[in-house]
Amino acid sequence: MAPSFHLLEHALARVHLTALRDEQTQTDLFRWHLSRLAGLLFSEAARDIETHTVQVQTPIALTIGHQVSRPIILAPILRAGLGLADGILPHVPKAVVAHIGICRNEETAQPESYYAKLPSFLADAEVFVLDPMLATGGSAVEAVRQLKAAGAMRLKLVCVVSAPPGIANFQAAHPDVPIFTAAVDEGLNERSYIVPGLGDAGDRYFGT
Ligand code: PRP
Ligand code: URA
Repeated sequence: MAPSFHLLEHALARVHLTALRDEQTQTDLFRWHLSRLAGLLFSEAARDIETHTVQVQTPIALTIGHQVSRPIILAPILRAGLGLADGILPHVPKAVVAHIGICRNEETAQPESYYAKLPSFLADAEVFVLDPMLATGGSAVEAVRQLKAAGAMRLKLVCVVSAPPGIANFQAAHPDVPIFTAAVDEGLNERSYIVPGLGDAGDRYFGT
C-alpha cells in the first residue's frame, strides 16, 4: 500500500504555525495557537470518517442528515499530544481519549514507553494519534505499534511539524496509516530536534 501523506495548505494554519515557531510566543498564546491549529488539522484528517444518513425533522420539513458511524478515539502521545487533544475535543465532544505515555531518551533519542490507558473498543473506532512533533518518528512508530497490538485498525497520525527522517521512518513502519501535518521542515539537528521546528513542544505547551 502506498503511504498517504497530507500537508495542510491553509492560510490560517500558516499563521498559527508562525506564532508557534516564534520563541517570543509565551505559554498562554502557544496554547491558543496550538489549539486552533489542531482544529484545522483535525478537520482535514476527519474529512472522510464514516458517516450514515439519518432523517431529521427541521422546523419546516423532514430531510436527510448525517451522523458519525464509528466511535472516535483521540490518542495523544504524552505530553505534547495533549495540546492537540485540547483543541480537537470541542469538535468531537463525545470522543474517547486514549493516553499513551512515551518520552524520548535525551541521550539516544529513542522512545521509552511509560504509560498506556487504552479503551477496549479500538477495533471498531476511528483512531487519531496526536503529537505535534514527528522528528525521528520513533515515538509515533511506537504509539501506533501499541495501538495496533491492542486492536486498532483505522488509524491516522496528526502532527504539526514533521521532519523528513520521521516521515520516512513512520511510513516504512506503518504504510497503512495516513499522516496529516501542517509543515515539513528541513531536518534534524545533532540532538534530533526539528530544524527550524518550534523547540520542545511539551515544554512550551506546559511551561516547563
Ligand atoms: C517529543 C514530541 C514527540 C517526540 C518526537 O516528546 O512531543 O512525542 O518528542 O520525537 P521523535 O519523533 O524523535 O520520537 P518528548 O519525548 O520530548 O516528551 P514530552 O512531550 O513529554 O516533552
Ligand atoms: N520533540 C520536540 O518537542 N521537538 C523537536 O524538535 C523534536 C522532538
